Amino acid sequence: MNEPIKKIAVLTSGGDAPGMNAAIRAVVRACSYYSIECVGVYRGYQGLIEGDFEIISSRNVSNIINKGGTILKSARSLEFKTKEGRAKAYKNLKEHGVGGLILIGGDGTFTGGLKFMQEFNFPLVGIPGTIDNDIYGTDNTIGYDTALNTVVEVIDKIRDTASSHNRLFFIEVMGRDAGFIALNAGIGAGAEEILIPEKNIGLEKFVESLNKGKDSGKTSSIVVVSEGDKIGKNVFELADHITESFPEYDIRVSVLGHMQRGGSPSCFDRVLASRLGVAAVEALLDKSTGVMIGITENKISKVELEKAIKMNNDINKELLKVAEITSV
Ligand code: F6P
Repeated sequence: MNEPIKKIAVLTSGGDAPGMNAAIRAVVRACSYYSIECVGVYRGYQGLIEGDFEIISSRNVSNIINKGGTILKSARSLEFKTKEGRAKAYKNLKEHGVGGLILIGGDGTFTGGLKFMQEFNFPLVGIPGTIDNDIYGTDNTIGYDTALNTVVEVIDKIRDTASSHNRLFFIEVMGRDAGFIALNAGIGAGAEEILIPEKNIGLEKFVESLNKGKDSGKTSSIVVVSEGDKIGKNVFELADHITESFPEYDIRVSVLGHMQRGGSPSCFDRVLASRLGVAAVEALLDKSTGVMIGITENKISKVELEKAIKMNNDINKELLKVAEITSV
């Protein structure tokens, strides 16, 4: 553990996010800059267990900064949740002479990584990559900005048809446990209502609010619903409840789904990913371990992985107020 690191491995795990390739590129090129070897691990933890490794050089990551997805592929590995699986992963890393590991992913990725580090005392550093922006210790996760832009673009299109037909649209956006995409894209797209898990307004208040909109002369409405929202079992059940209360409404449901995870990363995500990738390599070379590299007030920051996993980002109350005021 005290020997200088000569080889770093990098993997992407969990849900992919636009900008992961830019982060891989930055890791590879930072390794090259500091004269160490970089190993790409395919299919996240599953590839770590199976030894699906490949040396990646600077030229191998040409022309990927603009690409969505991840060239290293991603997977959710059940085997890595077992001690035997993690032991195989450790053996592979040792056999390949890897001295440090960079994990690009979200909550689940860091939870597995932390366990692995504690068991085998293996140096590792995390980079937050998820469209949900639900990781504590960073203002932005890689992919979030791109996803917001994708969602806003799609809602703009839906608004055209909603207003032409005087319809009420329920648009479900991603965010398993967090409403950051819904709240920010909802404000950006001028939604009439935004439903998020962090603020369960309940069906009654929601109906009341829709009534207010109707009374104020609104003829069409966009309701952005985070997939983690708790009114109703899902967006379809919610729409059914509203159909019962407002039989006069012509209601449609649109679930945006995985299109939110695809596409070319925004400039913001490319720059963020590049900064975090370089900082992650430097952190490992400085003997940091068990930390996530993030961005706080536009400066590189480090937070213990344990905190990044266990703590939650609060929803911004000012944004909630802005949403309320601008939708009257
Ligand atoms: O964690 C990112 C995320 O996109 C969530 O918002 C969503 O609930 C989930 O992944 C979907 O996962 P999968 O691709 O496995 O269906």
